[in-house]
Amino acid sequence: MLRIGLSLLLNLLNQLSVDGIVLDSGSGHRKSSNVSYSNSRALFAENFHRLLSTQNQTRRKLEDKVALITGAASGIGKATASKFISNGAKVIIADIQQPLGQQTAKELGPNASFIECDVTKESDISSAVDFAISKYKQLDIMYNNAGIACRTPPSIVDLDMALFDKVMDINVRGIVAGIKHAARVMIPRGAGSILCTASVTGVMGGMAQHTYSISKCAVIGIVKSMASELCRHGIRVNCISPFAIPTAFVMEEMSEIYADVDAQRHVDIVHNAGVLKGANCEPNDVANAALFLASDNAKYVSGHNLVVDGGFTSFKTLEFPTPDQVQ
Ligand SMILES: NC(=O)c1ccc[n+]([C@@H]2O[C@H](COP(=O)([O-])OP(=O)(O)OC[C@H]3O[C@@H](n4cnc5c(N)ncnc54)[C@H](O)[C@@H]3O)[C@@H](O)[C@H]2O)c1
Repeated sequence: MLRIGLSLLLNLLNQLSVDGIVLDSGSGHRKSSNVSYSNSRALFAENFHRLLSTQNQTRRKLEDKVALITGAASGIGKATASKFISNGAKVIIADIQQPLGQQTAKELGPNASFIECDVTKESDISSAVDFAISKYKQLDIMYNNAGIACRTPPSIVDLDMALFDKVMDINVRGIVAGIKHAARVMIPRGAGSILCTASVTGVMGGMAQHTYSISKCAVIGIVKSMASELCRHGIRVNCISPFAIPTAFVMEEMSEIYADVDAQRHVDIVHNAGVLKGANCEPNDVANAALFLASDNAKYVSGHNLVVDGGFTSFKTLEFPTPDQVQ
């Protein structure tokens, strides 16, 4: 900061010595100048504003903002918490895993705090939002990210409806409750950014079990419905649909499906499912998308589903035979 300030001053002095008051490098005394003092002042002001606006552009994107992130003890939520903090935000990690959540908050430093929260309990979500207000007096960003995978059989005829309800409770009802309580404190301020984690499995069918896919389709719908009301209060509502990432819940599933291979092989299988050459989908890619949507860079973006999938859901290839294969 001091270095920026000094270079700003030097730059301005430089400008003055060229265009206005000339400093004698030997004595340090002022020499006469061919430009009037008032011209110099105007130039000084102009350059000062130009340099200040350059500085503003490089300012941290979430300076003095307060964010609450559910499911931030690990994976995507943790990466986003870290990204938000490095951009100037205070972050509350709300997660059902207490020791892990506390450990994550400690790791992320004094601008992170933890509150135990089960998103299936509305009272927990309400308390987490109230905690943000009592600790920081405001809530600017609510990221409803907590979610679980489901291990339901592939066919609809075998669907266990109790398991279906359990997944909906976390992945859908938890998000609706999160938006409800964020809106409760954001509407009076007339501002706020609400984010949710959906998935590519909510954009296209056939990529996950029906239950999970349905829950993520619902998230994309929830965002559109909520945005329609909350735009009147200056609150933006968006979601992010990531491609497969080898985080805790995906790795757990992989180790059940491919029990005889090691963790690195599981990671490779997940990464190899992508289509974008030279890159893999990582928690940090979702964190970058969240940072954009939460910040003023996205000040006119609402009701949007930002897909982070390297192009996967944008196309299908027609499997025509090559001419030499056709008799
Ligand atoms: N990893 C992927 O491939 C992928 C792809 C698309 C979308 N998603 C979504 O991303 C979100 C984050 O998942 P992740 O990949 O980081 O996995 P993760 O398992 O690392 O993180 C999920 C977090 O949610 C928490 N959680 C679970 N149930 C909760 C509850 N009832 N209340 C509060 N917290 C709860 C867990 O403790 C955990 O910290 C989920 O909504 C998931 O559906 C993940």
